[in-house]
Amino acid sequence: MRILAIETSCDETAMAIIEDVNFRPHIISNVVASQMAVHAESGGVIPNIAARLHTEALPHVLKEVTQNKKLDYDAIAVTAGPGLIGCLLIGMSAAKALALASGKPFFAINHLEGHVYSAWLGEEIPELPALIVIVSGGHTELVLMDRHLHYKHLGHTRDDAAGEAFDKVARLLGLGYPGGPKVAELAKHGKRDAYKFPIGIMEKDSMEFSFSGIKASVAHLISQLPQPLAQHTKADIAASFEHVVAETIARKTLTAMRYYPGIKSVCLVGGVSANTYLRKHLEQAVKTATPEIQYIVPPFEFCTDNAAMIGAAAVYHHLFGKPDDWRNVEVDPNRELV
Ligand code: KG4
Ligand code: ZN
Repeated sequence: MRILAIETSCDETAMAIIEDVNFRPHIISNVVASQMAVHAESGGVIPNIAARLHTEALPHVLKEVTQNKKLDYDAIAVTAGPGLIGCLLIGMSAAKALALASGKPFFAINHLEGHVYSAWLGEEIPELPALIVIVSGGHTELVLMDRHLHYKHLGHTRDDAAGEAFDKVARLLGLGYPGGPKVAELAKHGKRDAYKFPIGIMEKDSMEFSFSGIKASVAHLISQLPQPLAQHTKADIAASFEHVVAETIARKTLTAMRYYPGIKSVCLVGGVSANTYLRKHLEQAVKTATPEIQYIVPPFEFCTDNAAMIGAAAVYHHLFGKPDDWRNVEVDPNRELV
């Protein structure tokens, strides 16, 4: 089955056509139209502007993903939440219109489930049971997946998400939007041990996260330093911050691995999984603890928001679940991964 997937939950207007081949998602076509340049000027995503830009971009993206109607599809999938409500509504309306006009099967997909299934878009796919580490702009969660479409929540952030911490620290350092990649770039030139920031939630065996303390301690440090900050000082702060975030994520992941020794793979997904230092740091921690475990990170292009991951999740709903009736589906900005 070829599935047209639509993703408009935040600031990327994305569509993809994905096919199931040998029980795996196979990408036929993939388009991401980013609004990044517009939002960079205002220093962050302004929801009603993002929604308007989705409306403008959708017809062009649809034309491009179908190669001007040369590529057909058998079903439609769309992100139903979590995300910005105005943005979700644009993608949902388009998907419902296509379903109404064509009568094709329809799949409403959770955005976080899309991130989970981005781990199935690389050459090697995860073995189950898998421990999924979701680190995005809005969420930080540890999830155990013992079979397809089934998620056991082990821990989540009590305050800021990992990506949110990157974005806030970028702002403190005057780096602008999008924060994560800018902090990562600067961190390459800094010392990882220049400053010691606190690891969030130290209670023994806790799988919960907290990043607001790290951010507050970066803000406090900056307020104590002579202004304006020297470039090498900013780089040291970025590198030390990146290290403590990676170390926090690694420690929680290792705790989960100890709790669930039957885990066959660890997957790092979500926008922050594009962070090279985190990818390597977590791999080293996981492989040192359990050398035979499989460690999966999606190819870079599927870490941040895209529709291929929504299509990949829809492939498994087609294989192991069932389609949704689009008449009964509503967008939900706080939709939970269940
Ligand atoms: O998954 P995503 O594209 O959107 C949400 O679902 O939230 O994640 C976006 C987040 C942003 O906070 C962004 O700063 C962060 O991912 N991010 C990064 C990197 N690339 C994107 N954080 C750290 N390093 C990166 N290279
Ligand atoms: Zn996302």
